[in-house]
Amino acid sequence: MNSPTPAKLSPIVYFIGFTAALAGLLFGLDIGVISGAQGFLQKDFAVSDHVLEIIVSALLWGAFFGTLISGILSNKLGRRRAILVSAVIFVLGSIVCSMAPNAQILILARFFLGIAVGVASFTAPLYLSEISPQRVRGSMISMYQLMITIGIVIAFLSNTWLATYATIGGVTGGHWRLMLGIISIPAAIMFLGVIFLPESPRWLFLKGYKDEAIGVFHRMRLPDDDIQREVIEIEESLRVRQNGFSMLLENRNFRRAIGLGIGLQIIQQLTGINVVMYYAPRIFDIAGYSSTAHQLWGTVIVGVTNVLATFIAIAFVDRLGRKPIMYAGFVVMGISMVSVGLLFNMDLEKSPVLGTWAIGALLLFIIGFAMSAGPIIWVLCAEIFPLSGRDLGVTFSTATNWIVNAIVGQTFLTLLSSFGNGNTFLLYGGLNVLFVIFFLFFVPETKGVSLEKIETNLLAGKPLRKIGR
Ligand code: BGC
Repeated sequence: MNSPTPAKLSPIVYFIGFTAALAGLLFGLDIGVISGAQGFLQKDFAVSDHVLEIIVSALLWGAFFGTLISGILSNKLGRRRAILVSAVIFVLGSIVCSMAPNAQILILARFFLGIAVGVASFTAPLYLSEISPQRVRGSMISMYQLMITIGIVIAFLSNTWLATYATIGGVTGGHWRLMLGIISIPAAIMFLGVIFLPESPRWLFLKGYKDEAIGVFHRMRLPDDDIQREVIEIEESLRVRQNGFSMLLENRNFRRAIGLGIGLQIIQQLTGINVVMYYAPRIFDIAGYSSTAHQLWGTVIVGVTNVLATFIAIAFVDRLGRKPIMYAGFVVMGISMVSVGLLFNMDLEKSPVLGTWAIGALLLFIIGFAMSAGPIIWVLCAEIFPLSGRDLGVTFSTATNWIVNAIVGQTFLTLLSSFGNGNTFLLYGGLNVLFVIFFLFFVPETKGVSLEKIETNLLAGKPLRKIGR
């Protein structure tokens, strides 16, 4: 369906893509910030590891809840206003977190902040996919993942500065309250940017504002042919759009796609990526790097690796296809996690160099994730659902992401203490190897296939791994 000679995109399309992807930045900032803050707030509030796990994962449960209400919010208010609501919660939530007088309030505030993360993680990709011209839709979604990784790295950098270097009120380092509060600034910037975004044309159509929707396309300076095609497609998809729930009850094939989306997001989280994202300083500690500065700079390197390796996926996802990259990424992740596990089971005090090797393997794991599961799971989840049940399908898969994310965040320290450092990583390594089998049997190759074709194949009852052919 691509135009033979695609016209150049106007700068406003890039502005829209960038501004909406800022939601990913905030998602990333909130994920990244807690790793640097936890050591200090654990000391200040004198809380156990278990309470610390709850502080870490409260945001994730909030995000789960936020995802569940996102469907209603983005349907009633519109996508743009739903993102605005999330920006307001981002600002308020970050400020309250930074002022929390005790662990209980911090847990509540992080749950509240999590609602913003959940709403943003649902609405921003949805908005992007609904407003982007068809031929750049894939890269717009990848841009969102790139922003997540950039958000994480900015949080890591700001943590490092505030933890060790910044002198505020005569005190140098340890400023965890500022780490949490500073996120309100990018959140406020996003709020201002989103005010200028147009509403999603698809939502405008859904609510009967056809002229306004076409006005948005004109504002984006799309060529008339493209506009006409988009309008026909939207109108067609709207004919069958509103019956997601009845589809869930009546259509087994739709349920299969939901199962696949849920499976993919469980897998993304059980790779163990967020064990590293949330607890990197602790992992550096296990590897023998006991100074805070080393741990935080190490964490920054993890974040930068995550950003850079995401470009591997962006470069190859449409050339090599989704599955080859997934296989490569999961093999890399499996081998590297098992190596970290084996090394952590050795006597690191006797030979400290083993700790450095373990960190090398950890970075390899990050590369494996960022080039595969990070962006591609989100891309696949945006591709496999039939249009009429897409909101519902994405709700299921995104909510799953957050539940499993929370479980991983909430169990890591307990696993370390009950199962042992090395064995915990061996467990995640083993899972990564197992997941390759799932790809073999259930995951379709969707490179270069139109969404309509995927939908037709799915609804015709083809095996999941063949719906992209
Ligand atoms: C995942 C997050 C993860 C991030 C790391 C995202 O795709 O959903 O859970 O923290 O990637 O880059």
